[in-house]
Amino acid sequence: MALQAASLVASSFSIPKEGKCGAAFKDSSLFGFSLSEHVKADFTSSALRCKGGFNRRNGAVRAQTMATTTPAVNMSAPERKKTLRKGSVVITGASSGLGLATAKALAESGKWDVIMACRDFLKAERAAKAAGMPKENYTIMHLDLASLDSVRQFVDSFRRSGRPLDALVCNAAVYQPTANEPAFTAEGFELSVGTNHLGHFLLSRLLLEDLNKSDYPSRRLIIVGSITGNTNTLAGNVPPKANLGDMRGLAGGLNGLNSSAMVDGGNFDGAKAYKDSKVCNMLTMQEFHRRFHEETGITFASLYPGCIATTGLFREHIPLFRILFPPFQKYITKGYVSEEESGKRLAQVVSDPSLTKSGVYWSWNKASASFENQLSQEASDPEKARKVWEISEKLVGLA
Ligand SMILES: NC(=O)c1ccc[n+]([C@@H]2O[C@H](COP(=O)([O-])OP(=O)(O)OC[C@H]3O[C@@H](n4cnc5c(N)ncnc54)[C@H](OP(=O)(O)O)[C@@H]3O)[C@@H](O)[C@H]2O)c1
Repeated sequence: MALQAASLVASSFSIPKEGKCGAAFKDSSLFGFSLSEHVKADFTSSALRCKGGFNRRNGAVRAQTMATTTPAVNMSAPERKKTLRKGSVVITGASSGLGLATAKALAESGKWDVIMACRDFLKAERAAKAAGMPKENYTIMHLDLASLDSVRQFVDSFRRSGRPLDALVCNAAVYQPTANEPAFTAEGFELSVGTNHLGHFLLSRLLLEDLNKSDYPSRRLIIVGSITGNTNTLAGNVPPKANLGDMRGLAGGLNGLNSSAMVDGGNFDGAKAYKDSKVCNMLTMQEFHRRFHEETGITFASLYPGCIATTGLFREHIPLFRILFPPFQKYITKGYVSEEESGKRLAQVVSDPSLTKSGVYWSWNKASASFENQLSQEASDPEKARKVWEISEKLVGLA
């Protein structure tokens, strides 16, 4: 029934040539079933390559031997002690979906002070109340990732609050699958890459110093990735595929005027812009790992939480898609996870003592057990990671 209805909307759904289920939603199989999630054994270690080498013993990406830019902050780590205080975690985009569910899971554990970094204060407050989050365990602070000024202001306000920073979760995202024309951030970057990648890039670069100052036993910087950016999965092979190309559009500032609004310099495609932004997210996590893990001991991780087909991420999709996508994922692909379950997964990456390994892209199998997944060749390319990093630091004013 779902597939019959889907076939009525040719522009939004497609029948891929490959695949167990024989059908997937175009652009939005994000979300789809993946060999990576269900057939972990299919992966070969060759999928994660980097200049410094892949550590086959523990699976982590090792520190790159090539020269890298040293930040202007003192990275000598303070002495860490066993602390009994609550952890302090910043979660971007905690007003709905995965971010809200993660905030709730951590706040309810009683072990975390959750700072919900949101662009809409009232929406976040209502969402936290409706979710029944314990008042004493969360705070809302304003952050609009589509404005670099707002990112800097958030960092200032956070520091003025006097809180330590023990974990940062870069979760917020926009997805514009039906947009015909690009929209732009305050600084004129295409909105998806500008928000999902550049806003988070500046935020995490600035807050690295704060994470490094923390005396918490395990400090973590987590950037939410996606299966859709990984072309080693079925979902990642649904057109338009992620592809950063030679990054001429990113280098040109993604402004749609004297440069393309797309990272690869091509014509605007909202679905591809989202997937490209997720590749940038996953590459950024690895570049953080290569540059800073050894020196600081901070854990850098990314994850695919599963297909949370009910979240606001799909708000700009056509109505029929929004109706059919959840049952399609639940009953046909079986890739669906609830917001609650996905929140538990991300909360696990924030706080589980067994998930301290750095440089890892986490996924979960059908039994909801975490495992180290393999990124696609592009999403694990160390040269691309370095290039994304270097171009991005120029765009956000850090170089
Ligand atoms: N849903 C899935 O199946 C799926 C699968 C894989 C990965 N993910 C990833 O999971 C993460 C969360 O997505 P979701 O599914 O939970 O979607 P969601 O419910 O739409 O949550 C996105 C959040 O990002 C916030 N946001 C958007 N633009 C922002 C900006 N400029 N500044 C600050 N916050 C902003 C939204 O705020 P408002 O509430 O104000 O709009 C919202 O809180 C994303 O990184 C997404 O890529 C989702």
